[in-house]
Amino acid sequence: MSWKLMTARRAMAMGGALILGAGLAVSAHSQTPPAGASPAAGPSPARTAIEYRKAVYTLIGANFRLLGNVLKGSAPYDAATVQKNIARLVFLSDLVSEGFPEVSNVGEPDTKAKADVWTNRADFDQKVKDFQTHLVALQQVNDAEKGPTEAFKTAAAQVGQDCKACHDTYKAK
Ligand code: HEC
Repeated sequence: MSWKLMTARRAMAMGGALILGAGLAVSAHSQTPPAGASPAAGPSPARTAIEYRKAVYTLIGANFRLLGNVLKGSAPYDAATVQKNIARLVFLSDLVSEGFPEVSNVGEPDTKAKADVWTNRADFDQKVKDFQTHLVALQQVNDAEKGPTEAFKTAAAQVGQDCKACHDTYKAK
């Protein structure tokens, strides 16, 4: 049982509105842990950001996989699935920037983001922007072509190059 729940239950068991109020005040306070708070107070802002961006990239990877396979010729072009995956990638690309707040540029383990993300922020932001722009372009091409045409392949390959360009510079191996 969580500490918060225990506090609330105990307070209710005692039936004192005053005590319940105090319990709630304490739990509200515990939601905004000070810097360097104990792990029991929840993940740090850095940890939260790292988990957020890794989750976003995991979904980006999962939704780009089919496009990569269509490019390689190892998966057929299925119009409905391709359209759906591109729409998801357009949406997901909009979530990336928020995963890299300044606070997450600290020696946290379990992240492959290089410190260069923050020292070269303008260039990193440009790479995020290019990624978004090329996804929107791919969506337009795909909506017009509705097939694995040369124009589709060129637009999809450009997005694949954006993944690689950013990883080469900003993601540790
Ligand atoms: C603007 C930069 C940028 C672009 C564009 C980008 N990535 Fe990444 N990607 C990163 C960084 C930085 C990390 C490391 C994140 C971390 O470990 O905190 C990462 C991590 C990942 C991961 C690992 C996630 C995890 O759980 O550790 C996958 C998978 C991934 N990217 C796939 C892709 C694919 C596929 C594309 C293109 C469709 C792409 N990325 C585009 C910068 C980028």
